[in-house]
Amino acid sequence: MRIILVGYGVVGQSLADILLRRSIETVRDYGFNPKVVAIVDRGGAAINSKGLDLEKMLALKKKDGTVGTDPKFGYPQMSSSAVIESVEAEVVVEVTPTNVKNGEPGLSHIKTAFKTGKHVVTTNKGPLALALPALMELADYNKVYLRFSGTVGGGTPVLELAKRGLLGDKIIAIRGILNGTTNYILTKMEEKCITFQQALEEAQKLGYAETDPTMDIDGIDAACKVVIMANWIMNKKFTLKDVEVQGIRDVTLQALGKASKRGNTIKLIGSIDGNPTVAPTEISKHDPLCVSGVLNAVTFVSKFAGEETIIGRGAGGMETASAVLRDLLDIKHNLASELLM
Ligand code: HSE
Repeated sequence: MRIILVGYGVVGQSLADILLRRSIETVRDYGFNPKVVAIVDRGGAAINSKGLDLEKMLALKKKDGTVGTDPKFGYPQMSSSAVIESVEAEVVVEVTPTNVKNGEPGLSHIKTAFKTGKHVVTTNKGPLALALPALMELADYNKVYLRFSGTVGGGTPVLELAKRGLLGDKIIAIRGILNGTTNYILTKMEEKCITFQQALEEAQKLGYAETDPTMDIDGIDAACKVVIMANWIMNKKFTLKDVEVQGIRDVTLQALGKASKRGNTIKLIGSIDGNPTVAPTEISKHDPLCVSGVLNAVTFVSKFAGEETIIGRGAGGMETASAVLRDLLDIKHNLASELLM
């Protein structure tokens, strides 16, 4: 399988690292022999139709901050769209940062990949939150696969549990803690009796929250994940504008204290049960969803199997890259099945 890797930040480099470390086993266990034929970052691209040396690419990125400086395979300033259009490959792995304003540049990357007959694996929530129903249609029209396991739950197989683990059942409702940063802040506020601002500063120091943590604390990141689950798992045609969103800025120590006296706590819950919502919500401390720190947890309410909750780390480079690898294997598996039909 030939891969174009668009975006070479934490997730992109983690994927290169996993592919290097797992190369022998993935061939042996799954007959999966990936070749990264192009990598694009902000400084340009490196292209080799025989497959790039990933160890060299990781070292070069560390040294120069871009792979475009490779003396033999480098193309400084070459645009991502030009690479996606011109390089022959089966899959584009799109791991550029999320932008919920207009989805770019990820949205254009995905559309260009589809138009040139390439499957897409992405961890970029922006294009999906803004246009997932249209993108799923476009993928079907172009007869390509679109996969995005790493967008919800990091490496925790949240989407797969619902889609494959509950195959045939009907998911009636979903609710979950979908953002690690806010869960960390709410946990610390309650545990240490510190204010929202103090907990946020702690989360920033530890590198959980961004310097501009708006996406997390205002609930936008969780809302993106709600949209993705609603479309993929429940076949709803929602986009970000359909989600009623409230973040955690106004959660006070007093409110947490009152909830605690009732045996409850307050968590930022994303929910799809009728209208999609994200809001601080009082839940029982015995609810399986009630996880602490940066953990994520999602409960699926299904018609026949009942309620199932999955818990795991919701972020991290290696974790998210492991989800990308699962998606690549899924596409490989689907392509192999198509050949048998
Ligand atoms: N910023 C997100 C979180 C991680 O805190 O959960 C990526 O989705």
